[in-house]
Amino acid sequence: MTADVTDLMKKLVSLCKRRGYVFQSGEIYGGLQSSWDYGPLGVELKKNIETSWWNFMVSTRPDVVGMDSAIITHPDVWKASGHLKNFHDPMVDCLKCKGRFRQDHVEGDSCPNCGGKLTEPRDFGLMFKTQMGALEDDSATVYLRPETCQSIFVNFKNIVTATRQKLPFGIAQTGKAFRNEITARNFVFRSREFEQMEMEFFCIPEEAEKWFEYWLNERMQWYSELGIKSDNIRTRKHDDSELAHYASSCLDIEYTFPFATGGWGELEGIANRTDFDLKAHIEESGQDLSYLDQINNKKIVPFVIETSGGIGRTMLAVLLDAYREEEIEGRERIVLGLHRNLAPIKAAVLPLSKKLSENALEVFNLIRPHFPVQFDETGSIGKRYRRMDEAGTPFCITYDFDSLEDKSVTIRERDSLDQIRIPVETLVETLKNLMDSGWPAAK
Ligand code: GAP
Repeated sequence: MTADVTDLMKKLVSLCKRRGYVFQSGEIYGGLQSSWDYGPLGVELKKNIETSWWNFMVSTRPDVVGMDSAIITHPDVWKASGHLKNFHDPMVDCLKCKGRFRQDHVEGDSCPNCGGKLTEPRDFGLMFKTQMGALEDDSATVYLRPETCQSIFVNFKNIVTATRQKLPFGIAQTGKAFRNEITARNFVFRSREFEQMEMEFFCIPEEAEKWFEYWLNERMQWYSELGIKSDNIRTRKHDDSELAHYASSCLDIEYTFPFATGGWGELEGIANRTDFDLKAHIEESGQDLSYLDQINNKKIVPFVIETSGGIGRTMLAVLLDAYREEEIEGRERIVLGLHRNLAPIKAAVLPLSKKLSENALEVFNLIRPHFPVQFDETGSIGKRYRRMDEAGTPFCITYDFDSLEDKSVTIRERDSLDQIRIPVETLVETLKNLMDSGWPAAK
């Protein structure tokens, strides 16, 4: 990692802690490696990303329905899906420096770090196992899901029966997934507990490639609506050697994560999973999970186009994309230029002096039912603006001594630093317009 890259990540991780976006889990006990807790602003940003995904993928569409499945899953699900067989890597450990490496990433039997001797390869299971009930034998073994999509396949028949959806249609869910990653690192990019946003779109086999293209375009559109700069995002098709065991074609949406090898890291995968999963569950369970095509009056096992992204990775991309340092009138400021729809706090009410706090609180209470808003009366006005810039708050509302007379306040926009003065009685409406359409183009 170059100094610049380390520097940027260090600065971002530090800002995330300072402003309450992300904390190291169990920090007071020395921290649990690669485990992260989301603070007051982090949880809002995460929810805003998830809600935006859900609106885009489910709520606004007649052809996608949602579900929310259990995290602890039946072991046979993972037998059928191929995870028990395929979801592990042979690893070698260095006897000298204790480094751990994937066997296929090292040449020969000496450590790539220190030249020390390596152990024989050992299988490293990537699924978290636990026991259900009081018995601690193999029959009680269950798994924390390593991906959310398998529960969608397992519930396919239930959902078709309950909703009467006709092909083509999708089933979506968001939620936690767990992988005992060997090298979890790079902040929330690769952790052992993370959240996925997955959608499985069922269609007739002949139309699978058409839907693959369609969903790729939709997903790119969503990232663009989050405000991610187009130069920082791209697509990359997998070559055959990279394909997962279930996919006939796969494409990654990648972001310019500063630590990524080659400059680009995966944000989301779009895959043609064919009929692999449904067929595997039909075989393992002995249940009929086929779909009755009423037009041709025949049973088929649909093909599936999957879109599978991570909330943590999207959040990291959004934060990196929004982070900037600049000098304004000889003073440095750090800004999170978050899209207003994602910003955890939409507006802050700042009385110019503590003497004005009582009146400014009335303004705060006026806005509070409509938007996540903060009230901040401590420190100089400049310091309070800087705090809000770092938190990514798009609008600051200043209540000054003139406000007592003219019953007006000043709205300052985070990026342009433009200001407008408006009557308090139109403030909520003005903010609603700003949230809908953004700041008016430069005057
Ligand atoms: N159902 C397909 C599937 O799970 P994946 O490429 O293994 O595919 C999909 O995971 C997405 O989940 C990734 O693009 C990434 O955004 C997120 N993801 C996977 N492993 C992760 C980890 N260890 N930490 C954070 N996010 C992860």
